[in-house]
Amino acid sequence: MVTLSKKVVAVSGSPRSGQPNQKSFTEKILDLFIQGMDPVDYKKFYPHKMNINYCRACLTCWFKTPGKCVFNDDMKILKQEIEEADVFILASPVYIDGFSAPVKAVLDRCFAMLDPFITVDKEGHCRHKRFKPREQVALLVSTCGFSEADNFNHIRHHFEALCKNFGWQNGGEILVPAGALGFIHGAYDDKYEAVKKAGKEFAEKGMVSYQKIQQISEEQIKADKYSEIVNSFFARLISRVKSGNG
Ligand SMILES: Cc1cc2nc3c(=O)[nH]c(=O)nc-3n(C[C@H](O)[C@H](O)[C@H](O)COP(=O)(O)O)c2cc1C
Repeated sequence: MVTLSKKVVAVSGSPRSGQPNQKSFTEKILDLFIQGMDPVDYKKFYPHKMNINYCRACLTCWFKTPGKCVFNDDMKILKQEIEEADVFILASPVYIDGFSAPVKAVLDRCFAMLDPFITVDKEGHCRHKRFKPREQVALLVSTCGFSEADNFNHIRHHFEALCKNFGWQNGGEILVPAGALGFIHGAYDDKYEAVKKAGKEFAEKGMVSYQKIQQISEEQIKADKYSEIVNSFFARLISRVKSGNG
């Protein structure tokens, strides 16, 4: 086992994560990846449990107090942790084809990490430099409720844009579709093993291979069969709730 000596910071962005009585599937995948990675310096943050205001676009962090937001809230701590990380992991379920609201709130507040002056990159595209530039690798961890891997298309594109705009090297995307299978004992054991191996691979090579990414996001079940299983579970759940046993 290779123990990763870099500073690793994760944002666990499902509102179900970090709760004793609820289980977040995204956090489960994040935790398995971390288990494989085995970092010595690791911190996980739950933005929904923190006091993080929405960016109000006052631009104070650009023109009045460069790099410093008007809000004196928990983003002060999280921003510093993200800025000092070697490896940054963004974990979010797919919510209405995008990131969860707590994750989006964090990302918007990362605006204060960017210098207002626009530079043009090698591809001729406008970018902002970082106030505190640093070599960083970022990874995306996500799960979704539908069975097809294309449900990750939007957040994958968003993540790729984030990597370019924040100067992160894309270290890999750990995307598990058909989240309901996570509730069926044994259904996803192979995927869990692959996620752990991806974490180990990251610790050894500094990125997750395309092959492993494909293996993890591969559809486990066809939409027809999946919808049958999920719908019958939902029907049972609704009747249990109706009868007062839910
Ligand atoms: C508000 C909300 C919006 C969702 N939108 C989508 C969606 O657009 N596409 C999809 O495949 N799943 C969607 N889902 C399902 C979740 O992505 C899926 O259940 C995920 O595994 C939940 O992760 P968690 O247990 O970590 O919260 C949505 C769930 C919620 C609660």
